Amino acid sequence: MLYHHCEILSLMEQAERSAAELILQAHGILAETKSGKRDVVTEYDRRVQELLMAQLQASVPDAHFFCEEMKEQDRLDADLLFIIDPIDGTMNFVHGFHHSCISIAYAERGTVLAGAIYNPYVDEMYSAVRGYGAFLNGHPITVTDAGLSESVVCYGSAPYNPELTARTFTLVRKVFDSCLDVHREGAAALDLCTVAAGRAGLFFELQLSLWDYAAGALIVQEAGGLCRPVDAPDFPTDGSRTSVVAGSPAAMKDFLRLLQD
Ligand code: IPD
Repeated sequence: MLYHHCEILSLMEQAERSAAELILQAHGILAETKSGKRDVVTEYDRRVQELLMAQLQASVPDAHFFCEEMKEQDRLDADLLFIIDPIDGTMNFVHGFHHSCISIAYAERGTVLAGAIYNPYVDEMYSAVRGYGAFLNGHPITVTDAGLSESVVCYGSAPYNPELTARTFTLVRKVFDSCLDVHREGAAALDLCTVAAGRAGLFFELQLSLWDYAAGALIVQEAGGLCRPVDAPDFPTDGSRTSVVAGSPAAMKDFLRLLQD
């Protein structure tokens, strides 16, 4: 069956808004660890994912899924695929920081065509359909014109990869010396939206999963920004974990120059 991408986007947004109730009403949140003490999951991550999958499957019965809390992912090159992070910023969620989101990307045969990221705490819905621009609560957004020196920069600490800690903080120090300030906000998908909305000039993290950045990368690109791995021009096509940097064209140029120093 053929679906119009704007229809798919609206299904994704509806699913996120209904699942967001679970996040807003969460209580007695218990964290279970996955790969290590910083990699946590809660029953809410699973329940949000189940609800999203059920709603999307009801409207798109031939859809496949690539989700964070799923044991066996479907193929990335499926005809119709939803890439889901049910709660991005789980550590924030567990500790009551009220800065987490639901992220869904929609892809056809390996190309992401739509993305929706919802932060229920401030009722901000970021969205994009490839070729149609990026929006925040229905209003068009664009990245800033600013370079690094006039920008706030968000970064992620790659918390599940201790082997990347030294490089991360060396880079953070370098970037800090060249920009206005650095923020560690704790939800990569929202960091990407922060760049798309022109609030931050740049975001980088040395290791992310596809569900963390698939929707956000499209939203940044549709807002006129650039998004790529830190040390390579293109994202891996097999869905393996990768570094990510996103920014305004000017800030990206400054960042790539800094990497050479
Ligand atoms: C994490 C958050 C965090 C980032 C981690 C991600 P999760 O996602 O986006 O900011 O530093 O690398 O894995 O695990 O909360 O969905």
